[in-house]
Amino acid sequence: MRNVFDYQIEYSGLQNRMAQMFDPKSGHTVMLAVDHGYFQGAPAGLINLRETVEPLLPYCDAVSPTIGGLKTSFNSNMRTPIILRATGGNSMRMPDELDDEIITVSVEEMLRVNAVGFTVSCYVGLDCQSQTIQSLTDLTDEAHKYGLVSIGITAVGADPVLTKFVKGEREDGGELTADDKKEAIKYLKHASRVLSENGADIIKTYYCDGFEEVVEACLAPIVIAGGTKRPTKEALEFTSNAIKAGAVGVDMGRNIFQNEHPVAMIQAVRAIVHDNKSPKEALEFYEEIKNKS
Ligand code: 5RP
Repeated sequence: MRNVFDYQIEYSGLQNRMAQMFDPKSGHTVMLAVDHGYFQGAPAGLINLRETVEPLLPYCDAVSPTIGGLKTSFNSNMRTPIILRATGGNSMRMPDELDDEIITVSVEEMLRVNAVGFTVSCYVGLDCQSQTIQSLTDLTDEAHKYGLVSIGITAVGADPVLTKFVKGEREDGGELTADDKKEAIKYLKHASRVLSENGADIIKTYYCDGFEEVVEACLAPIVIAGGTKRPTKEALEFTSNAIKAGAVGVDMGRNIFQNEHPVAMIQAVRAIVHDNKSPKEALEFYEEIKNKS
């Protein structure tokens, strides 16, 4: 007997693009985020973008640049899937307006540079939440006509209450309290679900203790950003905790390119994300690569 669903009814370009970004064995991804300059200017570690990225590309499942970064600092013969930063219009020169982000890259431009997907920052809970969520829905609607992958980022903007989750410390530099941690789960769970309800194919958010709740409440798969640079051991620990809690990978920047040994770091992150290594094993691997180089 035959079942109609044994026949492949339709090939999906979007699924094929997801397959380019995710390892078929692990079902996970290590994306390198290097789009920070769109609002930070020239952050440490990205001053010479080409020099920073070239040694890391062989270890990336995908790379997330800005359109300007791509045009000036990547080679046309690169084979790493591109996830293009598609919103901006803000900058650290107006830190209180960081949430006032708009669409800055069209779907046509994404196709022109052969991107497989794009990222949109959405500032849930801040003044510009509706315009940033609309950027996500408008771009996703248009991009899905061509099977491009939509990644919604739960950005935290300038809001002091929210940014402490990303920094992992209070504004005064103090440790996060138990209430802070509860608030982090509540916010990231809420914001991730909102973006997934608005149609993002993948959600990029930040790791927090109790991340299982964020994953469980989200309708779409989650990758984590790394947030501000942490000590190598700590960064490997939260990467491992995030994967154990259900994240399908990372779209990490500063904790790789600002690490003292970025090539060793991205390989240690891969060991956790793809080979299920423990933070301890990954740190030993990091030290081994570092000492060899
Ligand atoms: C910048 C971004 C970054 O892509 C995202 O934060 C990941 O980078 P990092 O790991 O450095 O946080 O959205 O606005």
